[in-house]
Amino acid sequence: MSWQNVTSTQKERAQTCKKMVWITGASSGIGAALVRRLAADGHFVIISGRNRDALLKIQQPSPKLVKVLTCDVSDDVSMAQAGRELAEITDQLDLVIACAGICEYEDNLELDVHMYRRVFDVNFFGVVSTLHQSLPLLANSRAPVFAAVGSLSSVVGFPRAEAYGASKAALSYFMESVRADTCRVRLRTVLVRPGFIDTPLTKSNDFAMPLLMSPEQAADRILRGLSGSGSTIDFPRRLSWPLRILGVLKPVWHRLCAPRITRIRKLRSA
Ligand SMILES: NC(=O)c1ccc[n+]([C@@H]2O[C@H](COP(=O)([O-])OP(=O)(O)OC[C@H]3O[C@@H](n4cnc5c(N)ncnc54)[C@H](OP(=O)(O)O)[C@@H]3O)[C@@H](O)[C@H]2O)c1
Repeated sequence: MSWQNVTSTQKERAQTCKKMVWITGASSGIGAALVRRLAADGHFVIISGRNRDALLKIQQPSPKLVKVLTCDVSDDVSMAQAGRELAEITDQLDLVIACAGICEYEDNLELDVHMYRRVFDVNFFGVVSTLHQSLPLLANSRAPVFAAVGSLSSVVGFPRAEAYGASKAALSYFMESVRADTCRVRLRTVLVRPGFIDTPLTKSNDFAMPLLMSPEQAADRILRGLSGSGSTIDFPRRLSWPLRILGVLKPVWHRLCAPRITRIRKLRSA
């Protein structure tokens, strides 16, 4: 089956339960692992990111099932173009996974607004834009699913994660709202909140990452969660439960945990 006749094989897809999937952030890490798993299971996967060469490498093992669509989720023009290309490739999407993300830390509470905008442009507005471009195609599916990758870091306020954590917390609220707004229509929304995963995003982390998982393990947890009916996929449990409890017991977090993690000993002065 080639990409030229994908649109004319909807019936066949429905019969074989094969899905038409779009994944952003597919050029490395968790996204790339998801692509490998989905293609191995015979699904059609449109893969996006900015690095075309990396995407082409990921497409290589399954050129008939994987299609490259280069785009920058933080750029409105690029996303509008991606939307047009998506519509040329397929008339429906069954599953969209907004996985593109970046992480930048605060080091001395510099509060560099440009850095915050960069992070929000990808992690928050990038997801809004991904949903904007995919919604008309999701509407043509019998059981459409829109999943966005947030982070367990948004459950409590982590030191140094003011920008990253806030972008993921905003994403969490956005997904809750979309879920509320679509409760009477046929769209399942899922927020994925991983713990620490060994990917290029965490390569330069210079702190202990408890319960670090591989991208393959993460992809496995996400796909298992998507095969269920929940609206949140948190993993690993041994990290998500303590964090959730600390999210409720905020004084414990701020009095006992945060002082051990923060690197700030005195405020910057003029
Ligand atoms: N690794 C972790 O511990 C962890 C934990 C919790 C949540 N997450 C989340 O999981 C998601 C995937 O991260 P990862 O760990 O797999 O990191 P990664 O390997 O660095 O992957 C990030 C992906 O996002 C893409 N991306 C970044 N900026 C983009 C932009 N402007 N437009 C389009 N694509 C863009 C990158 O592709 P290009 O460079 O080709 O554009 C890459 O494919 C992120 O949302 C991240 O926040 C990760």
